[in-house]
Amino acid sequence: MKKSQTELKRLAAEKAVEFVPENEYIGIGTGSTVNLFIEALGKSSKQIKGAVATSRESAALMAQYGIPEIHPNEVSSLAVYVDGADEINPLLQMIKGGGGAHLGEKIVARLAQQFICIADETKYVKRLGKFPVAMEVIPMARSMVSRELVKLGGQPELRIGFKSLNGNEIVDVTGLDLSQPIAMEDKLNAILGMVENGIFARDPADLLILAKQDGVELITA
Ligand code: A5P
Repeated sequence: MKKSQTELKRLAAEKAVEFVPENEYIGIGTGSTVNLFIEALGKSSKQIKGAVATSRESAALMAQYGIPEIHPNEVSSLAVYVDGADEINPLLQMIKGGGGAHLGEKIVARLAQQFICIADETKYVKRLGKFPVAMEVIPMARSMVSRELVKLGGQPELRIGFKSLNGNEIVDVTGLDLSQPIAMEDKLNAILGMVENGIFARDPADLLILAKQDGVELITA
């Protein structure tokens, strides 16, 4: 029988628990796949020293499962960072930020020695770019940044009623040419008023745990 997307997400999330080392600090991302990872980790017998959460939602779920939370400023390094993605390509470059938490996700991912991406097969794409790229912008620069995004070929749309953890706004952009993801990530971040964009190409994942209808595949770049 065909597995649902949630069942596939759960398979990837459960597999990721095997990659979590005991007695270490780890980082935990944000989103529905990560929620299943937190649940699987909480129900497992694995003991970790603590985890950095990238959103209030993840922190609340961690607390529910008794996973101790630590602040990113308390650690200089994390053993692994586990997170989902909106899109991921064969080089393990990603689009993230569907949940608007990509700034914290990039920071925590940078602290980690290994980035493990967990995803169902719908997220695996040859070329990034269908999913809108989230931009965290300083509120007073929203229109200015949006005009620059149009110059780059994008169609920006403000995420109405949403504020990031840092009090900034999120502008979702479609239509950008992501054939050179690193160059576009850098170009976007050079716009004045841009805090961070949701392209994760400079720091791609190290391992992708991809749940497919015919089983779980482990992919490295
Ligand atoms: C959160 O800001 C995102 O980067 C998520 O990692 C991404 O949206 C994946 O979410 P799901 O696991 O809910 O698909």
